[in-house]
Amino acid sequence: MSDKKHNEVTRRQFLNYTLMGVGGFMGAAVLAPMVGFAIDPLLKGEKESDFVYIMDVDEITNEPQRKTFVIDQVDGWYESQVERTAWIYKNNNGDILALSPVCTHLGCTVDWNSNADFPNEFFCPCHFGRFDSNGVNIAGTPPTEPLHQYEYQITDGKLYLSGKSNPREEA
Ligand code: FES
Repeated sequence: MSDKKHNEVTRRQFLNYTLMGVGGFMGAAVLAPMVGFAIDPLLKGEKESDFVYIMDVDEITNEPQRKTFVIDQVDGWYESQVERTAWIYKNNNGDILALSPVCTHLGCTVDWNSNADFPNEFFCPCHFGRFDSNGVNIAGTPPTEPLHQYEYQITDGKLYLSGKSNPREEA
């Protein structure tokens, strides 16, 4: 008789373990895609690295030219098209510069040669920030670093920019 009782308990335990196992498996099967769905944007991160055709290299002059272009931006789940602007020119060394117009002080938009008092400079009207013709901040004005440089590629004589601009180590 005690053997039979012992067997019943064992069967009940077996049933409990089986149900817990199946329940756990089903729970994991439901939760795993949800967790993946939730953290996928974090894994994807921000992407704006595709290069966009801007102009032919032989059209680049020593005078900065303002060019706007559109990039596809992926930020987690959110995909959008974003307009960017670059000042493109060759400096006195013949190096190609593709500078962001975002002032490195507080983010206003700089313009080239727009202030008669400061010709051939990038000028920021917000707090009178000034950058020389290489995009380097002029001492005594609010910006503390040069204008950022877009990543660019040249293929078959054509200039392509990414939407990403970076601080310049040397200018
Ligand atoms: S934001 Fe350009 S000088 Fe302040």
